[in-house]
Amino acid sequence: MKGHLDALQKAHANFHLQVCYGRPGDRDVLGVDYQHRGHADIQLLRSTLPLGRYQFYVCGPKSMMETLVPALDEWGVAPGDIHYESFGPASLTKRAAPPVPAGQIIRVTFSQSGKTVPWDAGTDSLLALAEANGIAVESGCRAGSCGGCQTCLEAGKVEYSQPPDAELEPGHCLLCITTPKSDLTLAA
Ligand code: FES
Repeated sequence: MKGHLDALQKAHANFHLQVCYGRPGDRDVLGVDYQHRGHADIQLLRSTLPLGRYQFYVCGPKSMMETLVPALDEWGVAPGDIHYESFGPASLTKRAAPPVPAGQIIRVTFSQSGKTVPWDAGTDSLLALAEANGIAVESGCRAGSCGGCQTCLEAGKVEYSQPPDAELEPGHCLLCITTPKSDLTLAA
């Protein structure tokens, strides 16, 4: 999106772009390619925004939502001025995974990786389980919105912790907001 955002800034005098890179590339130049090293946080907003009333649209991964949104609130921004776009407030408080009945072990098979691992009830999603076991899975928002973690469910059933925003292909599931209801086979 960087090129698109740069073009918008050039086209509109009232569009002010501040780019933050947590891990700038070797060829990224501070002050040219990006303005801030690190993540967008409340300190950045307080230091870059002139005094005034603003509408905030927060769009990002769960960790960002969980820090930035409460910080806006503490800063005194009215709740009606804080918007989440497609990351509804539900993504801030994911429901805990339903407990697995005592003695029952649920096995999750990642067929492309050739790994079968037991479901860990302390894990909040199948995406987290995959990552904890070194299985490379694409992801983005981690909140059911972007569809990046969509994976073919080859066998078994999953439970969603919140309704998905992303459109799903038949027979697929979003790993970031699902937990297993039974033994599973996933094409990952
Ligand atoms: S990572 Fe975006 S929908 Fe799962």
